[in-house]
Amino acid sequence: MLSGTQNLTLFPNKTPIGLFSINKTPQQLRFPSTTRIPNCRTRIVPKCSSSSVSASRPTSQPRFIQHKKEAFWFYRFLSIVYDHIINPGHWTEDMRDDALEPADLSDRNMIVVDVGGGTGFTTLGIVKHVDAKNVTILDQSPHQLAKAKQKEPLKDCKIVEGDAEDLPFKTDYADRYVSAGSIEYWPDPQRGIKEAYRVLKLGGKACLIGPVYPTFWLSRFFADVWMLFPKEEEYIEWFTKAGFKDVQLKRIGPKWYRGVRRHGLIMGCSVTGVKPASGDSPLQLGPKEEDVEKPVNPFVFLMRFALGALAATWFVLVPIYMWLKDLVVPKGQPI
Ligand SMILES: C[S@@+](CC[C@H](N)C(=O)[O-])C[C@H]1O[C@@H](n2cnc3c(N)ncnc32)[C@H](O)[C@@H]1O
Repeated sequence: MLSGTQNLTLFPNKTPIGLFSINKTPQQLRFPSTTRIPNCRTRIVPKCSSSSVSASRPTSQPRFIQHKKEAFWFYRFLSIVYDHIINPGHWTEDMRDDALEPADLSDRNMIVVDVGGGTGFTTLGIVKHVDAKNVTILDQSPHQLAKAKQKEPLKDCKIVEGDAEDLPFKTDYADRYVSAGSIEYWPDPQRGIKEAYRVLKLGGKACLIGPVYPTFWLSRFFADVWMLFPKEEEYIEWFTKAGFKDVQLKRIGPKWYRGVRRHGLIMGCSVTGVKPASGDSPLQLGPKEEDVEKPVNPFVFLMRFALGALAATWFVLVPIYMWLKDLVVPKGQPI
């Protein structure tokens, strides 16, 4: 098993996968395993990239839930318990506020879109800073949105059913784009981030919060079969390719993990970028990865769904295991 110190190394050797240089040494990026992750913002300076991360990460691997139809059915059931059972282990209010801090929600009149907003848990953090009437919650799941509609502080928000990869907002529309815990379901994450760029105004900021890839072998196995757990450098590359400037990544995690990241985190980082010019993203993409109109074999669908649910169960157990370890292992020692 890897030690916490290794897990907290952002890029343990030199420059990761040859795509970026970072203006911090690996030593500066390594935190002791006993230290809670500081609110580190790692500035990444893109060198250049001719390879396509987006082509290597979408549906090339059989991740069961990284499909719109499967995500739809997953949330048909999960929406019933989402706020009460799922969030407390992975996505707490203090993590949410920490993750939204780089979004710079500094003006109540800002126009904000919360993409993959689901039951509105993150939106509740947004409306602390921005008038609810200026906030739109978009999600592809009517079942999740139905929960958001019941929340009193969100009653003035606009609620829209739609697809993160094809947003129903005009170009240069919003001051802030927020998306929390949704990218892992998108068949083509690069397309979703390109959409984030398009809908923002000049100078607008995107804040995308999402999972991070595990290093412990069994967690990696379940992550790989379940959904997309991007590597930190992949987030940075998707943002950079979409055209964002001043791209930054902040690590987040539940308090009781004491900074340990070896099992991956369903909410593990908050990535921000600024739109430097008005109009659409300079990035050109081909057709969408998933054609939702195409019929699926119901047997294959059920098998994939069952295996995805099994992998999801592992990630329900991980925070409980970490919580128990945090109780047992004396404070100040690595867990
Ligand atoms: C883990 S939940 C996060 C909900 C909310 N943002 C939060 O912070 O609690 C993921 C949400 O993404 C939505 N989603 C998945 N794929 C989507 C897509 N292609 N377009 C829009 N929403 C999507 C799901 O329906 C679900 O509500």
